[in-house]
This record gives sequence, C-alpha cells and structure tokens, in this order.
Amino acid sequence: MFVIGSGARHLEDEIKALGGGVLDVEIKRFPDGEKYVRVLDSAEEVTLVQSTFRPQDEHLVEMILLADALRERGVRKLRAVVPYLAYSRQDRVTKEGEPVSVRAVMKTLALYYDELYVFDLHNPETLKFFPGKAVNLSPARAIAEYFGEKLGEGVVLAPDKGARERAKAVAEKLGLEYSHFEKKRISPTEVEMRPVDIDVKGKNVLIVDDIISTGGTMIRAANLLREMGAGKVFVAATHGVFAEGAIERVSKAVDELAVTNTIPTPVSRISIVPDILGL
Ligand code: R5P
Repeated sequence: MFVIGSGARHLEDEIKALGGGVLDVEIKRFPDGEKYVRVLDSAEEVTLVQSTFRPQDEHLVEMILLADALRERGVRKLRAVVPYLAYSRQDRVTKEGEPVSVRAVMKTLALYYDELYVFDLHNPETLKFFPGKAVNLSPARAIAEYFGEKLGEGVVLAPDKGARERAKAVAEKLGLEYSHFEKKRISPTEVEMRPVDIDVKGKNVLIVDDIISTGGTMIRAANLLREMGAGKVFVAATHGVFAEGAIERVSKAVDELAVTNTIPTPVSRISIVPDILGL
C-alpha cells in the first residue's frame, strides 16, 4: 500500500490508475504554521511517496511525521520513495563548519524507514549514508520511451563527463550512439567545447542531464550543436529545479524540453510512476 505525501500529490492519480492502493491520510496545517498529519488506515507494509522539492524542509518534516504515525499504527515494513531528494547536492564540506547535508537527511530518514529509493541522486555514493537498503533509480526507461520516436536514428549526449552514464543508459535502451561534451584547450585563451568522438551533423540529438537549474548548461550545449549542424535538438533532465525564466530560455533554444515528474513543472511530461509501481 502507498501513502502519498503532499510533495507527491501530482503522482497520485497515475499511481491509482496503474493499480497502486493508496491509504487515506489527512495533512493540514495548524494555525501556528506547524504541520498536522493523520493516517486514517493501515497495512503491514507501506511505501511512502514524497518528493522533497520546495518547500523542501516542510516536505521533509512531513515524511518524518507520516512515518511516525505509520509506525504508531503498527506498520512493520516502511519504504520511502523520494523522487527528488532535497539537499542531495550538499554532499561534502567545502568550508569548515558546514554539514554534509545529504548525510544529515539520510540519517534522519533512517530512524523511521527501512528502505530508501531515490531517483537519479546527484551523487549516488551518498547512498552509503543510509544504513538500510538504499537504491538509486534510473529515469532512463522513462526518458527513452518519451523521446525514442522523435529522436529516430539520432544520438544521446551528456553535457559533461559527469553525466555520461546517464546518456549511456538512455542510449542503450534505444540502441543508439552516445557521447559527452568535453572542454578542449585550443589556445592559451580559447577553450572549445565539443562532443567527444561523435559526428552530430544532420543527426537529431537528445541531451540528458540530472538537473536543470538556470538552464545555462543545456543552452550552451544546444547552441554548439546547432553550430555543428545537428538536426533537431531535444533536452531531457530528471529533475526540473528551474530558476525563474529557465523553462522559457531553454525552450527557446531547443526543439523540445521535457523533464520527468519527480518535480511538478509545466514541462514535467515524462512519468516515473511506472518505475515506482515496479518496485
Ligand atoms: C551539475 O552538476 C548538474 O549535473 C547540472 O549540470 C547543473 O545543475 C545544471 O545547472 P544549470 O541548469 O544552472 O546550468
């Protein structure tokens, strides 16, 4: 049985349509701003789905309160499916005195949850901070299914080396070539950015990344591909953490922009719900 937090309400209809049973919960706010939750039903094993986009802290506190309520009702096994995990980019101390925020979040969730499933975690190595079973889920199936036909015999590219595995996972589902952009110094003052070992001329290209924030990374890559004579340029990412105006800027620069629904946005057209139901 599933419990849906307020950060996953946008996934609820599809979860039900695909056969997922959902337990009723009441979630409201006390007049002083604190959250009130109440679980109206129970089951032996429960999967809580909660995405922790903005307001991140509120969504996280809800996860803790709902888990406490579920344990109180006797739930034996509790899994957390977190399509977007807040604080996942703060994975190291860069200035003395800072926390490793993702560790703090995972250790807190581990007080209540037996298993943790996260989509496309910024640094998958940080799963080690969760002492129970912890899984990084790939959006590759969803992205490949959405863009496969439009892309035809095209190629899949990562905007940098760090995202290469993401491009590879999508390309392998479609049986296509993949590569990544690399910065190459061509003179003391000039740096050239181009896809490694791949010719994009006349080919449709899908650029895949984990996050789009300002859109700068994707726009730069798309403009280069146009200069290189690429065909259609599509952009996909797992998490649309869009800064103000980013959707419009990226949309103008490419043939189509679509992200998964780990975070609800106007371009969250790629659904990861089938992957949740498949767990
Ligand atoms: C970086 O590590 C991430 O994978 C993304 O490439 C980055 O967050 C994108 O940011 P922006 O959209 O602001 O260029």
